[in-house]
Amino acid sequence: MRKSQFTGRIALITGASAGIGREFAMQLAPALNTIVLVARRGDRLEALESELTSINPKLKLFSCEVDLRNRDQLEAFCDWLDESGLSIDFLINNAGLGDHGPFRESEWQRVSSMLKVNVYALTYLTFRVLPFLRRSKRGAILNVSSIASFLPVPNSAVYASTKAYVTSFSEALRAELRSSNVSVTVLCPGPISTEFLSLATRAGEIQNHMAPEWFVVPVQQVVREALEAVRKDRARVVPGAFVNFTMTIVAFIPMFIKRLVLNERARRDVTNRQSPSTV
Ligand SMILES: NC(=O)c1ccc[n+]([C@@H]2O[C@H](COP(=O)([O-])OP(=O)(O)OC[C@H]3O[C@@H](n4cnc5c(N)ncnc54)[C@H](OP(=O)(O)O)[C@@H]3O)[C@@H](O)[C@H]2O)c1
Repeated sequence: MRKSQFTGRIALITGASAGIGREFAMQLAPALNTIVLVARRGDRLEALESELTSINPKLKLFSCEVDLRNRDQLEAFCDWLDESGLSIDFLINNAGLGDHGPFRESEWQRVSSMLKVNVYALTYLTFRVLPFLRRSKRGAILNVSSIASFLPVPNSAVYASTKAYVTSFSEALRAELRSSNVSVTVLCPGPISTEFLSLATRAGEIQNHMAPEWFVVPVQQVVREALEAVRKDRARVVPGAFVNFTMTIVAFIPMFIKRLVLNERARRDVTNRQSPSTV
C-alpha cells in the first residue's frame, strides 16, 4: 500500500475497539494526521490509543464511547463532530453485529440492534459527515458490508438483509457522488477470524457455522485490500482471491438454483441444531 494517499488525512472509524476496525486504525496510523475512534468499550479504545501513539507519536487521537444503537448518543456525537472543527475526510463505517439462528426464534433486542447499528447508524453518520467530505479536496467513504449482502442467507436473514442494504446504499451513493470529490467503496469480506462470530452465536447454541479454514481471510489482508481499493477508487472489494472467485461464480448462478441450495442449507442447519453431536 502506498501511504501517500492517506497522508495527513482525518479519519473516523466506527467499531474501532476490535477486529477489522482496530486493524484499520493500526494500518492507517503511520499515515494519518488524526483518527476519531468510535465504539462502546472505552478501555479497548484507550489501549488502542497507546498502541497507535507508539506507531506514530504525532497522530492526534479522539476516542469516543458511543453506543450506535442509541439515537441520542449518535446525534450528540455528530453534534460534537460539527463543533470540534475536525474536518473528516475519510469515513470508515465499520461497526456491525450479526446473529445466527432462525428468525422465528430471534431475540427482538438483537434484531433491533442489527437494524440500528448496521443500517441506521451507518446511514445517519454518512448523512452527517458528508458535508465535511464534500468540503475536503479528497473525501472517501468506506462502508463495511459482507459477502452475505449478495444473496439471502437462511439463519442470518436479518444480518444478510442489513448488509444487502449497505452494499446497495454504497453503490447508489457512489453513483450520486461520481462528479464530486468524494469516493465511495464498499468492502464485502467473507469470513474473518474476529470476535464477530462468537458474538453472533446465540446463548446456548453451538458455534457450528464457521466457514472452512481455507475460506477464511486474515484480517490484515482484508484491511490491506480494502485500503488499496479506496486508493484506486474502486466501487467494491471482496478480499481474498478464492472468496472473490467464488462470489463471482455465485453471481452467475440463476436464482432458482440458488433457492434449492438455500433450502437445503436451511434444512441442514435445522438438523444440526437438533443433533449437534453429529456436526
Ligand atoms: N468477521 C467476519 O467474519 C465478518 C465478515 C463480513 C463482514 N463483517 C463485518 O465487518 C464489520 C466489523 O466486524 P468484525 O469482524 O471486526 O467484528 P467485531 O470484532 O465483533 O467488532 C465489531 C466492532 O463493532 C463495534 N460495535 C458493535 N456494536 C456497537 C454499538 N452498538 N455501538 C458502537 N460500536 C459497536 C464493536 O465495539 P464495542 O463492542 O466496543 O462497542 C467492535 O469494535 C461488521 O460490520 C461486520 O458485519 C465481518
